[in-house]
Amino acid sequence: MVVTTTPLRSTLVQPRLEVTGGTTLEGEIRVSGAKNSALVLMAACLLSKDSLLLHNVPRLTDIASMGEILAALGVRVTRSGETVELLADHVSRAAPPYELVNSLRASFFCIGPLLARMGMAQVPLPGGCQIGTRPVVEHVKGLKALGARVTIEHGVVTAVVPGAGQRLKGGHILLDCPSVGATETLMMAAALADGETIIENAALEPEVVDLARLLRAMGARIRGAGTPTIVIDGVPSLHGADYHVIPDRIEAGTFLIAGAITRSSLLVTPVITDHLGAVLAKLEDCGCRLTPEGEGIRISAKEINAIDLRTQPFPGFPTDLQAPFMSLLATATGTSMVVENIFENRLQHVAELQRMGASIRMQGNTACVEGVTRLSGAPVQGTDLRASAAMVLAGLAAEGITTVRGLEYLDRGYSQLEHKLNAVGARIQRVSGDA
Ligand code: UD1
Repeated sequence: MVVTTTPLRSTLVQPRLEVTGGTTLEGEIRVSGAKNSALVLMAACLLSKDSLLLHNVPRLTDIASMGEILAALGVRVTRSGETVELLADHVSRAAPPYELVNSLRASFFCIGPLLARMGMAQVPLPGGCQIGTRPVVEHVKGLKALGARVTIEHGVVTAVVPGAGQRLKGGHILLDCPSVGATETLMMAAALADGETIIENAALEPEVVDLARLLRAMGARIRGAGTPTIVIDGVPSLHGADYHVIPDRIEAGTFLIAGAITRSSLLVTPVITDHLGAVLAKLEDCGCRLTPEGEGIRISAKEINAIDLRTQPFPGFPTDLQAPFMSLLATATGTSMVVENIFENRLQHVAELQRMGASIRMQGNTACVEGVTRLSGAPVQGTDLRASAAMVLAGLAAEGITTVRGLEYLDRGYSQLEHKLNAVGARIQRVSGDA
């Protein structure tokens, strides 16, 4: 018998957060720039030879990964505080390396601008992730409608613009579903195409509007972003820009829920209320008081009532806040129904919340959450980025200590989460992997 010994990396030595529950939060908590905007705006640098200066870029491992991917393509990336300068005057290759793409799904965004600028792009398929399969069919279908020849072999998508000028041609694209990533990829590709492109059934998310604003600042001609029909008149070239990333609506939502779950009064700032309409409405339905204050929103919470919610594309309730909101509902009075409609595998946090004493029954993509008087601290595993945040939130409300593992996910999307929460009264300690 062959006995294989795998190196034992005990879960005990993984880096973790130890959250001591039971404190109320007080003061002001600041929201960083939007991760999902910043990632796509960084990719847009490939569309111009001039410098792109992005401000309010959050400090996250996902942003660092995107920087590495762009650098591998020949882009000069410089970071100073929250500002990132990207200079793509010389793009040396049109094929980002697999190892880097594999570490960041959003790197598939590069395919649109690379194709528009270089006439070809070769990008590994990003593959699925913890929350679902994450197909890119709509991206590929749209690029074909713009005249690209696209083949997928051995897990690599190769897209080439045929003809001497190697310039994409405007086209009419009807998306089967309003995919955020596909809308963004196609907007970037169409910005430099020859002629007019119409994208129908486009995603309405604020990050799509943010990209349109940046592209316009770079000289692109785009209208209709934020509506289901986006029209792009291609231009021969784009110039540099100096641009501020919008605040992160998902981080803002997470902090508002932190205020609610700890029954606190907390000022979250800055918040663009239009970006969070569905979330604010649900918090009010739960019984929270929301008051505009300066650029932010103050949440005041006492008792939390059960509510029902279903995730939908924007302006519906965002899938990225489903897990954090479920932590809140686990502490509500009464029974809530939560339906996940966007990603097929995005209820893995249910089992972890159950370990903390939550009373949740699952049927398909629906969780029936019966609120309990008190969650109890337990060792839990964050199974994806937002599920990890949900565990931290649950830990804030729980009795005793909650140990949250899976920080490699958390650090991808939350900038200094524990520092920000500790500054308003939370008690969270990061324990390194060696301890
Ligand atoms: C983006 C966000 C992610 C968020 C998601 C939904 C970034 C970097 N990530 O991801 O945080 O959770 O929007 O708001 O911005 N689909 C297809 N075919 C496709 C593409 C997508 O069927 O070709 C489906 C997906 O399976 C999913 C739905 O469309 O069910 C939404 O996906 P999409 O909007 O593309 O999400 P991402 O852009 O990947």
